[in-house]
Amino acid sequence: MAMDATLLDPFSPQALADPYPVYRRLREQSPVHPVAPGRWIVSRHADVLALLRDPRCAHWGHAPELDALRSPHERALAQALRLFAPSDPPGALRRQMSAVFNTQVLERMPQRLAPLADRLLDGLGGHGGGGGLDGLDGLGEGRSRDVLAAYAHPLTMQAVGDMLGLSDAQTLALAQAMGGLDGSLFEGLRGAGIAAPASGPVARLQACMDALIDQAQDRPDALISGLHAAVDAQGPAADRRDRLLNALLVLVYAGHHNMLNFIGNGLLALAMHPQAQARLRQEPALADRAMLELLRHDSPLQYIVLVASEPLALHGREIARGDEVLVCTGSANRDETVFEDPDGLDFARANPMDSLSFGSGAWRCIGARLALRIGATAFSKIVARGFALPANMPALRRVRGALVQRGLAALPLMLLSQEEGRHG
Ligand code: HEM
Repeated sequence: MAMDATLLDPFSPQALADPYPVYRRLREQSPVHPVAPGRWIVSRHADVLALLRDPRCAHWGHAPELDALRSPHERALAQALRLFAPSDPPGALRRQMSAVFNTQVLERMPQRLAPLADRLLDGLGGHGGGGGLDGLDGLGEGRSRDVLAAYAHPLTMQAVGDMLGLSDAQTLALAQAMGGLDGSLFEGLRGAGIAAPASGPVARLQACMDALIDQAQDRPDALISGLHAAVDAQGPAADRRDRLLNALLVLVYAGHHNMLNFIGNGLLALAMHPQAQARLRQEPALADRAMLELLRHDSPLQYIVLVASEPLALHGREIARGDEVLVCTGSANRDETVFEDPDGLDFARANPMDSLSFGSGAWRCIGARLALRIGATAFSKIVARGFALPANMPALRRVRGALVQRGLAALPLMLLSQEEGRHG
Protein backbone atom coordinates (compact mmCIF):
# COMPACT_ATOMS: atom_id res chain seq x y z
CA MET A 1 0.00 0.00 0.00
CA ALA A 2 1.35 3.47 -0.92
CA MET A 3 2.36 5.62 2.01
CA ASP A 4 0.41 8.81 2.71
CA ALA A 5 2.76 11.54 1.40
CA THR A 6 1.77 13.94 4.20
CA LEU A 7 3.42 11.57 6.70
CA LEU A 8 6.76 12.65 5.25
CA ASP A 9 5.79 16.30 4.59
CA PRO A 10 7.35 18.62 7.19
CA PHE A 11 5.45 21.60 5.75
CA SER A 12 1.90 20.21 6.07
CA PRO A 13 -0.47 22.08 8.46
CA GLN A 14 -0.23 19.21 11.02
CA ALA A 15 3.56 19.32 10.89
CA LEU A 16 3.54 23.07 11.39
CA ALA A 17 2.00 22.48 14.83
CA ASP A 18 4.38 19.60 15.64
CA PRO A 19 7.00 18.64 13.03
CA TYR A 20 8.90 16.18 15.22
CA PRO A 21 6.99 12.96 14.35
CA VAL A 22 7.52 13.78 10.63
CA TYR A 23 11.24 14.35 11.22
CA ARG A 24 11.49 10.96 12.95
CA ARG A 25 9.92 9.22 9.97
CA LEU A 26 12.22 11.10 7.61
CA ARG A 27 15.32 10.03 9.58
CA GLU A 28 14.13 6.41 9.49
CA GLN A 29 12.74 6.13 5.97
CA SER A 30 14.08 8.89 3.75
CA PRO A 31 17.14 10.63 5.24
CA VAL A 32 17.70 12.60 2.01
CA HIS A 33 14.17 13.47 0.98
CA PRO A 34 13.03 15.27 -2.20
CA VAL A 35 10.47 17.98 -1.34
CA ALA A 36 10.37 19.71 -4.74
CA PRO A 37 12.39 19.53 -7.95
CA GLY A 38 15.95 20.52 -7.03
CA ARG A 39 15.20 20.74 -3.30
CA TRP A 40 16.09 18.17 -0.62
CA ILE A 41 15.70 17.78 3.14
CA VAL A 42 18.50 16.10 5.08
CA SER A 43 17.40 14.98 8.53
CA ARG A 44 20.00 12.79 10.31
CA HIS A 45 22.42 14.45 12.75
CA ALA A 46 25.58 12.93 11.20
CA ASP A 47 24.63 14.09 7.68
CA VAL A 48 23.57 17.58 8.79
CA LEU A 49 26.83 18.03 10.67
CA ALA A 50 28.92 16.77 7.72
CA LEU A 51 27.15 18.98 5.15
CA LEU A 52 27.41 22.11 7.31
CA ARG A 53 31.18 21.66 7.18
CA ASP A 54 31.38 20.44 3.56
CA PRO A 55 33.15 22.90 1.20
CA ARG A 56 30.98 21.58 -1.67
CA CYS A 57 27.96 23.21 0.00
CA ALA A 58 27.55 27.00 -0.14
CA HIS A 59 25.44 28.69 2.52
CA TRP A 60 22.31 30.00 0.78
CA GLY A 61 23.03 33.71 0.31
CA HIS A 62 26.68 33.03 -0.38
CA ALA A 63 26.13 31.46 -3.80
CA PRO A 64 26.17 34.64 -5.95
CA GLU A 65 25.93 32.57 -9.15
CA LEU A 66 22.28 31.94 -8.21
CA ASP A 67 21.40 35.65 -7.99
CA ALA A 68 19.99 35.66 -11.54
CA LEU A 69 17.46 32.97 -10.55
CA ARG A 70 16.35 34.73 -7.37
CA SER A 71 13.33 36.97 -6.82
CA PRO A 72 14.15 40.66 -6.17
CA HIS A 73 13.55 40.17 -2.41
CA GLU A 74 15.77 37.08 -2.31
CA ARG A 75 18.50 38.87 -4.28
CA ALA A 76 18.51 41.80 -1.85
CA LEU A 77 18.62 39.43 1.12
CA ALA A 78 21.41 37.29 -0.35
CA GLN A 79 23.55 40.34 -1.03
CA ALA A 80 23.04 41.59 2.54
CA LEU A 81 23.92 38.19 4.03
CA ARG A 82 27.20 38.17 2.10
CA LEU A 83 28.39 41.11 4.19
CA PHE A 84 28.41 38.84 7.24
CA ALA A 85 30.28 35.90 5.68
CA PRO A 86 33.18 34.42 7.66
CA SER A 87 36.57 34.73 5.95
CA ASP A 88 40.16 33.97 6.81
CA PRO A 89 41.37 36.40 8.07
CA PRO A 90 38.01 37.87 9.17
CA GLY A 91 36.95 41.15 7.52
CA ALA A 92 36.50 44.40 9.46
CA LEU A 93 32.74 44.00 10.08
CA ARG A 94 33.14 40.42 11.30
CA ARG A 95 35.95 41.54 13.66
CA GLN A 96 33.81 44.36 15.02
CA MET A 97 30.82 42.04 15.45
CA SER A 98 32.99 39.55 17.25
CA ALA A 99 34.25 42.25 19.64
CA VAL A 100 30.77 43.64 20.25
CA PHE A 101 29.03 40.25 20.64
CA ASN A 102 31.72 38.48 22.61
CA THR A 103 33.09 41.10 24.98
CA GLN A 104 31.73 44.65 25.16
CA VAL A 105 27.99 44.07 24.92
CA LEU A 106 28.15 40.53 26.28
CA GLU A 107 29.48 41.66 29.65
CA ARG A 108 27.03 44.55 30.03
CA MET A 109 23.96 42.68 28.80
CA PRO A 110 22.71 41.06 32.04
CA GLN A 111 22.97 44.36 33.99
CA ARG A 112 21.08 46.13 31.19
CA LEU A 113 18.34 43.52 30.83
CA ALA A 114 17.73 42.33 34.40
CA PRO A 115 16.08 45.54 35.74
CA LEU A 116 13.91 45.82 32.61
CA ALA A 117 12.86 42.16 33.00
CA ASP A 118 11.84 42.84 36.61
CA ARG A 119 9.81 45.91 35.68
CA LEU A 120 8.07 44.10 32.81
CA LEU A 121 7.19 41.18 35.08
CA ASP A 122 5.88 43.56 37.75
CA GLY A 123 3.68 45.05 35.02
CA LEU A 124 2.48 41.59 33.96
CA GLY A 125 1.64 40.76 37.55
CA GLY A 126 -0.52 43.88 37.71
CA HIS A 127 1.97 46.15 39.50
CA GLY A 128 2.19 48.62 36.61
CA GLY A 129 5.14 49.42 34.35
CA GLY A 130 7.17 52.53 33.65
CA GLY A 131 7.85 54.50 30.47
CA GLY A 132 10.05 53.64 27.49
CA LEU A 133 10.24 49.98 26.51
CA ASP A 134 8.20 49.07 29.61
CA GLY A 135 5.33 50.91 27.96
CA LEU A 136 5.16 48.46 24.99
CA ASP A 137 2.07 46.79 26.31
CA GLY A 138 0.85 43.22 25.94
CA LEU A 139 -2.43 42.01 24.53
CA GLY A 140 -3.79 39.64 27.14
CA GLU A 141 -6.66 40.06 29.53
CA GLY A 142 -7.15 39.21 33.18
CA ARG A 143 -4.36 37.19 34.70
CA SER A 144 -3.20 35.54 31.49
CA ARG A 145 -1.12 37.82 29.27
CA ASP A 146 0.70 37.44 25.98
CA VAL A 147 4.25 37.16 27.26
CA LEU A 148 5.72 37.54 23.78
CA ALA A 149 4.32 41.05 23.29
CA ALA A 150 4.57 42.15 26.91
CA TYR A 151 7.89 40.55 27.95
CA ALA A 152 9.98 38.95 25.18
CA HIS A 153 9.53 41.71 22.57
CA PRO A 154 10.66 44.67 24.74
CA LEU A 155 13.52 42.61 26.22
CA THR A 156 14.86 41.51 22.86
CA MET A 157 14.48 45.03 21.46
CA GLN A 158 16.56 46.37 24.34
CA ALA A 159 19.21 43.76 23.50
CA VAL A 160 19.15 44.69 19.79
CA GLY A 161 19.44 48.39 20.61
CA ASP A 162 22.42 47.79 22.90
CA MET A 163 24.06 45.53 20.33
CA LEU A 164 23.77 48.14 17.57
CA GLY A 165 24.76 51.01 19.87
CA LEU A 166 21.39 52.83 19.74
CA SER A 167 20.13 55.34 22.30
CA ASP A 168 17.06 54.42 24.37
CA ALA A 169 14.90 56.75 22.24
CA GLN A 170 16.14 55.14 19.02
CA THR A 171 15.52 51.66 20.41
CA LEU A 172 11.98 52.59 21.38
CA ALA A 173 11.30 54.08 17.92
CA LEU A 174 12.56 50.89 16.26
CA ALA A 175 10.50 48.68 18.60
CA GLN A 176 7.37 50.65 17.77
CA ALA A 177 8.05 50.58 14.03
CA MET A 178 8.51 46.80 14.15
CA GLY A 179 5.44 46.31 16.34
CA GLY A 180 3.23 47.68 13.55
CA LEU A 181 4.50 45.13 11.05
CA ASP A 182 2.19 42.26 10.22
CA GLY A 183 4.52 39.93 8.30
CA SER A 184 8.25 39.33 8.18
CA LEU A 185 10.82 42.05 8.74
CA PHE A 186 12.21 41.15 5.32
CA GLU A 187 9.21 42.81 3.68
CA GLY A 188 11.21 45.97 4.39
CA LEU A 189 14.07 44.97 2.05
CA ARG A 190 14.84 47.50 -0.70
CA GLY A 191 16.45 46.99 -4.11
CA ALA A 192 16.01 46.70 -7.87
CA GLY A 193 12.61 45.27 -8.76
CA ILE A 194 11.09 45.82 -5.30
CA ALA A 195 8.23 48.34 -5.25
CA ALA A 196 8.71 50.97 -2.53
CA PRO A 197 5.52 51.48 -0.47
CA ALA A 198 4.55 55.13 0.02
CA SER A 199 2.75 54.52 3.31
CA GLY A 200 1.81 51.75 5.74
CA PRO A 201 3.83 49.70 8.23
CA VAL A 202 6.66 48.75 5.82
CA ALA A 203 7.16 52.41 4.81
CA ARG A 204 7.21 53.41 8.52
CA LEU A 205 9.80 50.74 9.30
CA GLN A 206 11.98 51.89 6.41
CA ALA A 207 11.69 55.53 7.50
CA CYS A 208 12.75 54.57 11.02
CA MET A 209 15.73 52.60 9.71
CA ASP A 210 16.72 55.46 7.37
CA ALA A 211 16.80 57.79 10.38
CA LEU A 212 18.99 55.33 12.31
CA ILE A 213 21.39 55.08 9.37
CA ASP A 214 21.65 58.88 9.18
CA GLN A 215 22.25 59.19 12.92
CA ALA A 216 24.99 56.52 12.91
CA GLN A 217 27.69 59.18 12.38
CA ASP A 218 27.00 60.39 15.96
CA ARG A 219 28.36 57.07 17.30
CA PRO A 220 31.44 56.17 15.18
CA ASP A 221 32.36 53.23 17.46
CA ALA A 222 28.90 51.61 17.34
CA LEU A 223 28.14 48.53 15.27
CA ILE A 224 25.63 50.42 13.15
CA SER A 225 28.52 52.66 11.98
CA GLY A 226 30.55 49.55 11.10
CA LEU A 227 27.82 48.66 8.61
CA HIS A 228 28.53 51.88 6.67
CA ALA A 229 32.17 50.92 6.12
CA ALA A 230 31.33 47.32 5.19
CA VAL A 231 28.70 48.42 2.66
CA ASP A 232 31.11 50.95 1.12
CA ALA A 233 33.71 48.22 0.67
CA GLN A 234 31.16 45.84 -0.88
CA GLY A 235 30.19 47.65 -4.04
CA PRO A 236 29.20 50.73 -6.06
CA ALA A 237 27.74 53.86 -4.48
CA ALA A 238 24.58 53.73 -6.65
CA ASP A 239 22.48 51.48 -4.41
CA ARG A 240 24.49 52.10 -1.24
CA ARG A 241 21.49 53.34 0.73
CA ASP A 242 19.41 50.24 -0.07
CA ARG A 243 22.25 47.91 0.84
CA LEU A 244 22.76 49.66 4.17
CA LEU A 245 19.12 49.33 5.07
CA ASN A 246 19.11 45.65 4.06
CA ALA A 247 22.21 44.92 6.17
CA LEU A 248 20.58 46.60 9.15
CA LEU A 249 17.46 44.49 8.63
CA VAL A 250 19.54 41.30 8.67
CA LEU A 251 21.13 42.25 11.98
CA VAL A 252 17.86 43.27 13.57
CA TYR A 253 16.22 40.10 12.26
CA ALA A 254 18.99 37.87 13.63
CA GLY A 255 18.98 39.60 16.99
CA HIS A 256 15.24 40.04 17.42
CA HIS A 257 13.25 37.34 15.58
CA ASN A 258 15.52 34.44 16.50
CA MET A 259 15.60 35.56 20.14
CA LEU A 260 11.84 36.19 20.30
CA ASN A 261 11.12 32.73 18.90
CA PHE A 262 13.74 31.15 21.18
CA ILE A 263 12.08 32.72 24.24
CA GLY A 264 8.55 31.86 23.05
CA ASN A 265 9.35 28.22 22.22
CA GLY A 266 11.32 27.83 25.45
CA LEU A 267 8.60 29.32 27.67
CA LEU A 268 6.02 27.03 26.09
CA ALA A 269 8.28 24.00 26.74
CA LEU A 270 8.78 25.06 30.37
CA ALA A 271 5.04 25.61 30.84
CA MET A 272 4.39 22.11 29.47
CA HIS A 273 7.15 20.57 31.64
CA PRO A 274 6.42 22.04 35.10
CA GLN A 275 8.95 19.73 36.78
CA ALA A 276 11.77 21.01 34.56
CA GLN A 277 10.63 24.55 35.29
CA ALA A 278 10.62 23.88 39.05
CA ARG A 279 14.10 22.37 38.85
CA LEU A 280 15.44 25.47 37.10
CA ARG A 281 13.80 27.65 39.76
CA GLN A 282 15.42 25.63 42.53
CA GLU A 283 18.83 25.41 40.82
CA PRO A 284 19.45 28.72 39.00
CA ALA A 285 23.04 27.62 38.30
CA LEU A 286 21.56 25.28 35.67
CA ALA A 287 20.63 28.28 33.50
CA ASP A 288 23.48 27.94 30.98
CA ARG A 289 22.81 24.26 30.36
CA ALA A 290 19.08 24.95 30.27
CA MET A 291 19.55 27.45 27.43
CA LEU A 292 21.29 24.86 25.25
CA GLU A 293 18.67 22.23 26.07
CA LEU A 294 15.71 24.53 25.33
CA LEU A 295 17.31 25.44 21.99
CA ARG A 296 17.91 21.77 21.19
CA HIS A 297 14.38 20.81 22.15
CA ASP A 298 12.55 23.37 19.94
CA SER A 299 14.89 25.59 17.95
CA PRO A 300 13.71 28.93 16.51
CA LEU A 301 15.46 27.99 13.25
CA GLN A 302 14.63 24.51 11.97
CA TYR A 303 16.73 24.52 8.80
CA ILE A 304 19.91 25.98 7.35
CA VAL A 305 19.67 26.30 3.59
CA LEU A 306 22.71 25.13 1.61
CA VAL A 307 23.31 25.05 -2.14
CA ALA A 308 25.32 22.21 -3.71
CA SER A 309 28.20 23.76 -5.64
CA GLU A 310 29.15 20.28 -6.94
CA PRO A 311 27.08 17.11 -7.47
CA LEU A 312 26.72 15.08 -4.25
CA ALA A 313 25.70 11.46 -3.66
CA LEU A 314 24.13 10.62 -0.28
CA HIS A 315 22.09 7.59 0.86
CA GLY A 316 21.49 6.60 -2.76
CA ARG A 317 20.25 10.03 -3.81
CA GLU A 318 21.94 12.15 -6.48
CA ILE A 319 21.97 15.83 -5.53
CA ALA A 320 22.72 17.97 -8.60
CA ARG A 321 24.90 21.07 -8.73
CA GLY A 322 22.73 24.08 -7.85
CA ASP A 323 20.17 22.02 -5.86
CA GLU A 324 19.01 23.44 -2.53
CA VAL A 325 19.80 21.23 0.44
CA LEU A 326 17.78 22.10 3.53
CA VAL A 327 19.72 20.60 6.41
CA CYS A 328 17.15 20.13 9.16
CA THR A 329 18.82 21.12 12.42
CA GLY A 330 15.43 20.75 14.14
CA SER A 331 15.47 17.05 13.23
CA ALA A 332 19.19 16.55 13.95
CA ASN A 333 18.54 17.90 17.46
CA ARG A 334 16.03 15.08 18.09
CA ASP A 335 18.16 12.31 16.55
CA GLU A 336 17.87 9.28 18.86
CA THR A 337 21.29 7.99 17.81
CA VAL A 338 22.88 11.11 19.37
CA PHE A 339 20.51 12.20 22.15
CA GLU A 340 19.07 9.88 24.78
CA ASP A 341 15.30 10.41 25.20
CA PRO A 342 15.43 13.09 22.45
CA ASP A 343 11.86 14.32 22.97
CA GLY A 344 12.40 14.91 26.70
CA LEU A 345 13.62 18.13 28.32
CA ASP A 346 16.68 17.27 30.39
CA PHE A 347 18.92 20.03 31.78
CA ALA A 348 21.48 17.45 32.93
CA ARG A 349 21.95 15.96 29.44
CA ALA A 350 25.46 14.57 28.90
CA ASN A 351 26.07 16.16 25.48
CA PRO A 352 24.29 19.55 25.27
CA MET A 353 26.94 20.89 22.88
CA ASP A 354 25.93 18.38 20.18
CA SER A 355 22.88 20.54 19.46
CA LEU A 356 23.09 22.13 15.98
CA SER A 357 20.73 25.07 16.61
CA PHE A 358 23.50 27.60 15.91
CA GLY A 359 24.99 25.60 13.00
CA SER A 360 28.52 24.26 13.15
CA GLY A 361 32.04 25.07 11.98
CA ALA A 362 33.19 28.33 10.41
CA TRP A 363 29.62 29.41 9.69
CA ARG A 364 28.32 28.82 13.22
CA CYS A 365 26.20 31.78 14.39
CA ILE A 366 28.43 34.67 15.41
CA GLY A 367 25.79 35.85 17.91
CA ALA A 368 25.58 32.51 19.77
CA ARG A 369 27.23 33.56 23.04
CA LEU A 370 25.20 36.75 23.11
CA ALA A 371 21.99 34.82 22.42
CA LEU A 372 22.71 32.43 25.31
CA ARG A 373 23.45 35.35 27.65
CA ILE A 374 20.28 37.25 26.72
CA GLY A 375 18.27 34.04 27.05
CA ALA A 376 19.73 33.26 30.48
CA THR A 377 18.53 36.62 31.87
CA ALA A 378 15.13 36.47 30.16
CA PHE A 379 14.37 32.90 31.30
CA SER A 380 15.85 33.14 34.81
CA LYS A 381 13.78 36.20 35.70
CA ILE A 382 10.42 34.74 34.66
CA VAL A 383 11.20 31.23 35.93
CA ALA A 384 11.98 32.72 39.36
CA ARG A 385 8.37 33.94 39.52
CA GLY A 386 6.82 30.79 38.04
CA PHE A 387 4.25 30.50 35.24
CA ALA A 388 1.69 28.11 33.80
CA LEU A 389 -0.58 27.72 30.80
CA PRO A 390 -4.03 29.28 31.39
CA ALA A 391 -6.89 26.82 32.03
CA ASN A 392 -8.78 27.96 28.90
CA MET A 393 -5.73 27.90 26.64
CA PRO A 394 -6.58 29.15 23.11
CA ALA A 395 -5.17 27.22 20.10
CA LEU A 396 -1.58 28.32 19.53
CA ARG A 397 -0.91 30.28 16.35
CA ARG A 398 2.46 29.86 14.63
CA VAL A 399 4.30 32.73 12.90
CA ARG A 400 3.48 32.65 9.24
CA GLY A 401 5.86 32.87 6.34
CA ALA A 402 9.49 31.94 6.60
CA LEU A 403 10.18 28.31 5.90
CA VAL A 404 13.13 27.98 8.24
CA GLN A 405 11.59 29.71 11.24
CA ARG A 406 9.64 28.14 14.09
CA GLY A 407 7.88 30.48 16.47
CA LEU A 408 4.60 31.47 18.06
CA ALA A 409 2.46 34.47 17.11
CA ALA A 410 1.40 34.85 20.75
CA LEU A 411 1.79 32.93 24.01
CA PRO A 412 -0.72 33.60 26.79
CA LEU A 413 0.70 32.57 30.18
CA MET A 414 -0.32 33.07 33.79
CA LEU A 415 2.31 34.32 36.17
CA LEU A 416 2.01 32.43 39.46
CA SER A 417 1.96 34.16 42.79
CA GLN A 418 5.26 33.91 44.71
CA GLU A 419 3.61 31.26 46.90
CA GLU A 420 2.36 29.15 43.95
CA GLY A 421 5.77 29.44 42.25
CA ARG A 422 7.63 28.21 45.33
CA HIS A 423 5.52 25.06 45.50
CA GLY A 424 5.50 24.51 41.70
C1 HEM B 1 18.71 31.71 19.71
C2 HEM B 1 18.97 32.62 18.85
C3 HEM B 1 19.76 32.37 17.59
C4 HEM B 1 19.84 31.26 16.80
C5 HEM B 1 19.16 29.92 17.01
C6 HEM B 1 20.74 31.58 15.70
C7 HEM B 1 21.12 30.69 14.71
C8 HEM B 1 21.88 31.03 13.61
C9 HEM B 1 22.17 30.14 12.51
C10 HEM B 1 21.69 28.71 12.41
C11 HEM B 1 22.92 30.82 11.63
C12 HEM B 1 23.42 30.34 10.26
C13 HEM B 1 24.61 29.45 10.39
C14 HEM B 1 24.98 28.88 9.06
O1 HEM B 1 24.79 29.51 7.99
O2 HEM B 1 25.49 27.75 9.05
C15 HEM B 1 23.10 32.16 12.15
C16 HEM B 1 23.79 33.16 11.50
C17 HEM B 1 23.94 34.42 12.01
N1 HEM B 1 23.53 34.86 13.25
FE1 HEM B 1 22.48 33.82 14.62
N2 HEM B 1 21.17 32.87 15.85
C18 HEM B 1 20.60 33.38 16.99
C19 HEM B 1 20.80 34.62 17.52
C20 HEM B 1 21.59 35.58 16.98
C21 HEM B 1 21.85 36.86 17.56
C22 HEM B 1 21.33 37.36 18.93
C23 HEM B 1 22.64 37.53 16.69
C24 HEM B 1 23.12 38.93 16.86
C25 HEM B 1 22.83 39.84 16.00
C26 HEM B 1 22.89 36.67 15.54
C27 HEM B 1 23.63 37.01 14.43
C28 HEM B 1 23.85 36.19 13.35
C29 HEM B 1 24.52 36.63 12.13
C30 HEM B 1 25.01 38.04 11.82
C31 HEM B 1 24.58 35.52 11.30
C32 HEM B 1 25.18 35.47 9.89
C33 HEM B 1 24.14 35.75 8.87
C34 HEM B 1 23.95 34.57 7.96
O3 HEM B 1 24.84 34.23 7.20
O4 HEM B 1 22.85 33.94 8.02
N3 HEM B 1 22.25 35.48 15.77
N4 HEM B 1 22.47 32.25 13.37
